[in-house]
Amino acid sequence: MKLKIAVLAGDGIGPEIMEQGVAVLSAVAEKFGHEVTYKEALCGAHAIDEVGDPFPEETYQICKEADAVLFASVGDPKFDNNPSAKVRPEQGLLAMRKKLGLFANIRPVETFDCLVHKSPLKDELVRGADFVCIRELTGGMYFGKKQEPTVNAEGVEDALDTNYYSRPEVERILRVGYQYARQRRKHLTVVDKANVLASSRLWRKVAQEMMGEYPDVVTDFMYVDNAAMRMIQDPKFFDVMVTENTFGDILTDEGSCITGSMGLLPSASTGSSTPVFEPIHGSWPQGKGLNIANPLAQILSVAMLFEYFDLKEEGKLIREAVNASLDQNVRTPEIQVEGGAKYGTKEVGAWIVEYVRNKKM
Ligand code: IPM
Ligand code: MN
Repeated sequence: MKLKIAVLAGDGIGPEIMEQGVAVLSAVAEKFGHEVTYKEALCGAHAIDEVGDPFPEETYQICKEADAVLFASVGDPKFDNNPSAKVRPEQGLLAMRKKLGLFANIRPVETFDCLVHKSPLKDELVRGADFVCIRELTGGMYFGKKQEPTVNAEGVEDALDTNYYSRPEVERILRVGYQYARQRRKHLTVVDKANVLASSRLWRKVAQEMMGEYPDVVTDFMYVDNAAMRMIQDPKFFDVMVTENTFGDILTDEGSCITGSMGLLPSASTGSSTPVFEPIHGSWPQGKGLNIANPLAQILSVAMLFEYFDLKEEGKLIREAVNASLDQNVRTPEIQVEGGAKYGTKEVGAWIVEYVRNKKM
């Protein structure tokens, strides 16, 4: 297969983990005889500094023409404490999602047995937890009508975000949820706040109408506050959860930390144009340039990329290599066992590349 990949390394630890992601992608492609070409493009803080735009038109064109985007992370502390900054790195990410029509964000929450002890939850609660959060990504409060802080006619400063959803937006994301549930344990939890929010009542209404089309899937409904609690009390309850943009943002951070390391979770965003594969952790500016960032989430994002194109064996080999590295304590410092050897971002990446190359097929 021929694959054109847009490489958006972004900021912070982004370029370091991307280097390893690309190395693994190339090694797997070589192993299976795929022809991969790469095009790098600017995004995030980096792009603001260079061209004044966190998602420049040229980057958009490169993404649009690619078969897939491999994305690392954006963000820079110099923007975080400046609420009046005119452009922010995160706007680049939001522009990318909107322009590429990436309405479905797939965030698997998987636990690795050897890291369960790192979880803040008790071993027996978290061991074996395995669910996917399908987060709507181009609607809701993120993109609804806004008013930045302004002094109103009564002399009071106010601001506004609108949580808008239309039926087609809800329906298409619920279908993604059902498709995933069908391939898994056939249990879909629709997470909303239908006891309070009108937009959630639309979600529930549409889901109740659709569930008859999927008689093989058990559908249940859960309020978001309850879901946040249930994820901690009984994460194994969930198989596939589907929810709106804002709730999904919050719940997936919660999900990522129950597994023991945020550095291990990949994601995929799909929609009407080129799909994007990226780790769910951020740009971790404190770790930049120190060769300590965990490249596994980026590498697992490459596995999701192959699987998206139905290249299952390729994805499987990456997952096998990642598991082997963990089993053999080839780990970055945040998950290394006491007394274990020291491996940096580069060394973990190189170990996985070697594993892939040496694998007898
Ligand atoms: C995420 C991030 C983004 C979001 C930020 C960086 C805009 O937190 O991908 O979850 O809120 O969607
Ligand atoms: Mn988030």
